Amino acid sequence: MGLLAIIGGSGFQRLPGFQVIEAKPLDTPFGAPSAPLVHGCLAGHPILFLPRHGEGHRLPPHRVNYRANLWALHACGAQRVLGLAAVGGITARFGPRVFAVPDQLIDYTHGRDQSFHDGDAGAVAHVDFTEPYCPELRMDLLRACAAAGVVAAAPATYGVTQGPRLETAAEIARMERDGCDLVGMTGLPEAALARELGLCYASLAFVVNWAAGKGEGAITMTAIEAHLGFCAGQSGPILAALAAGSGAP
Ligand code: HPA
Repeated sequence: MGLLAIIGGSGFQRLPGFQVIEAKPLDTPFGAPSAPLVHGCLAGHPILFLPRHGEGHRLPPHRVNYRANLWALHACGAQRVLGLAAVGGITARFGPRVFAVPDQLIDYTHGRDQSFHDGDAGAVAHVDFTEPYCPELRMDLLRACAAAGVVAAAPATYGVTQGPRLETAAEIARMERDGCDLVGMTGLPEAALARELGLCYASLAFVVNWAAGKGEGAITMTAIEAHLGFCAGQSGPILAALAAGSGAP
């Protein structure tokens, strides 16, 4: 199965049930990762953990050093990487507190370092990204959700915006016409960089608000935080089941 790494997003500075063994500060050819990489155990199984936004949630999505994060996880032996993602829901199936395992991505970001092969060091390379997520890890994740009694919505197309502001109602309407079900700010370039390194990458998304123009009135942080807290609680048994391999056939 290979060593599992979990990248925690908003609401996941720590993982529920995670026992820390040691935190290793690291450097990479692309700079420092968001935080020291934490080696530890979840449900009795060794995993790696990295908080995407750094300690104290100090890095906004457009300032995360995605290259350093993925490089560090790979260098420490991770073979499977799960990215946790708080998202907004666009289409009807994806209301607040729904868990989703996306199968497709659309990129609306700009100015992010998208590749390890940027021509500065070594040859240019073009990886296949037809199916942006690792099918095995997606299936393991869906089984882990089922084992934890959580019905995860899939498939889903995740549109990645630049942030840090939330979108306008017109931007969300355009994204819906494009086929997006979910909107978040961190799914790319994370998934693409994982693919460049040959890592098996999937995402567990959880909806913390209706996207702009899809709910009643303005989006409030108070409501987002309430949904985030609920989803963080629900995710504990899912992640434990994934780590324990109850996701495996
Ligand atoms: N838009 C973008 N990113 C998000 C949202 C949203 O509505 N909710 C959580 N992350």
